[in-house]
Amino acid sequence: MEFLSLAIYPGSFDPITKGHIDVLKKAVKLFDKVVIAVAINYDKKSFCSIDERKELIKKSIQDIKNVEVDSFEGLTVDYAKEKGANAIIRGLRAVSDFEYEMQMAQMNSSLCSDIETVFLIPKTKYNFISSSTVKEVAKLGGSVEKFVTEPVKRFLEESSNRGVL
Ligand code: COA
Repeated sequence: MEFLSLAIYPGSFDPITKGHIDVLKKAVKLFDKVVIAVAINYDKKSFCSIDERKELIKKSIQDIKNVEVDSFEGLTVDYAKEKGANAIIRGLRAVSDFEYEMQMAQMNSSLCSDIETVFLIPKTKYNFISSSTVKEVAKLGGSVEKFVTEPVKRFLEESSNRGVL
């Protein structure tokens, strides 16, 4: 039987940035298929709806093959098991990410020892980007084209013009 390696790349993606896309591009080189999954988290105040986030991801990654875009509620490891994944992808931008990511990876490993967390490091030029800082720059009229794709840039500009960013 043919063995297919499958990884889940979970996150808020509110919205997706070029840093996330860089991590995704590295992940598809290592796995046969990657599911980029928007985590539904009612505790984290979000800007884009889940459907908007999924739509922006789809529009932003059209040139990347073997990727499915999805969303999930509940534990990441439960979703990963349900999908038949053997790995969870997380990006590590800086040392400041490490402690939180380490804690999350160890918690996930103790919940499900069959699923490994794989950390990937985005290019240095994307290390300082986060969805919040990109939204703040867009809201204050700054240029975000270095940090997000054209569809996300348009979405942020339209939201800013409507005063909803
Ligand atoms: N490029 C740019 N930005 C990046 C990035 C990258 N490569 N990697 C992370 N970020 C930014 C995000 O934009 C986000 O910025 P923001 O806070 O300004 O929105 C921030 O880093 C957090 O990243 P994200 O990957 O979205 O993590 P998160 O903390 O919001 O979500 C989940 C993490 C969803 C994976 C985690 O909460 C989870 O697994 N939830 C499900 C419940 C669960 O299983 N809990 C048990 C785990 S202990």
